[in-house]
Amino acid sequence: MPRTSPLPKAELHLHIEGTLEPELAFTLAARNGIALPYPTTQALRQAYSFTDLQSFLDLYYALMAVLRTERDFADLMAAYLERAAEQGVRHAEIFFDPQAHTARGVPIGTVIDGLAGALEKEGGRHGISGGLIMCFLRDEPAESALETFEAARPYFGVITGIGLDSAEVGHPPAAFREVYERAAAAGLRRVAHAGEEGPPAYVREALDVLGVERIDHGIRSLEDPELVARLVREQVPLTVCPLSNVRLRCVSSLAAHPLPRMLAEGLRVTVNSDDPAYFGGYADDNFAAVRAALPLTGEDERTLARNSFLAAFLDHDEPRRAR
Ligand code: HPA
Ligand code: ZN
Repeated sequence: MPRTSPLPKAELHLHIEGTLEPELAFTLAARNGIALPYPTTQALRQAYSFTDLQSFLDLYYALMAVLRTERDFADLMAAYLERAAEQGVRHAEIFFDPQAHTARGVPIGTVIDGLAGALEKEGGRHGISGGLIMCFLRDEPAESALETFEAARPYFGVITGIGLDSAEVGHPPAAFREVYERAAAAGLRRVAHAGEEGPPAYVREALDVLGVERIDHGIRSLEDPELVARLVREQVPLTVCPLSNVRLRCVSSLAAHPLPRMLAEGLRVTVNSDDPAYFGGYADDNFAAVRAALPLTGEDERTLARNSFLAAFLDHDEPRRAR
């Protein structure tokens, strides 16, 4: 029977820059007098054929050139929240990549003010609570992450936590120990991408060296039974992104996705959308895709939705300052 309204859920793995739909990209390009190297939105969409994480990242960073003003960032957030509301998202902890913008000369305050302002205003309008997670680019030097962290300090009141993203292989987590220590001292929550393309050792390192509270992706953890046992024992949330995994060829097809095995192992797994404008779907689209391709029960789906709230940085977890 078709579901009439999507299950309420929390979105815990979403890059706001990855919600930039081609139509908005063209609108912002026109507004800012930027020429895109594609004649139409259709031509741009046709370029969304990726062979691995890096092939996606190249396009993802290039298209960010259209994001320049506080209003651009606010419009991006507002467009995302409207989609999220339709998809049953009630709480969203949203990644952003400050270095990808400051490297282009956009001040960090422009980025954060635009995103945080729209999250508060439009989130309130749609009944979506949320937070911002500032991610550092792991293929940039750790010093750059530290400088970015300090530049963001005046904005910590609107930042929930920090994360680590971009090209994973060859960029193990341990190099970012100091920025994670400073984040912990500042009362920020800590997550990191690990085990997407990188080995299970990176997942261990993120836990042991960076002290992360959630692992983003983490699917390659399954290659290491001892690590799986630990993740189960400690109920470390894994923010899995099924459509992303297929589009970036981390998994050969949705039917081959390890989500059912992860649930069966007792891992605290959640379903998320990563970069929905590029990978073919938002939060409930990911739920619908796994429902169609995998042997999941209704109870499994409810577990996934429940896990998303249990894994969220909500007040039940550890009260922080009011946001
Ligand atoms: N992995 C790493 N970095 C990213 C991703 C991802 O899936 N999406 C956006 N930045
Ligand atoms: Zn991601």
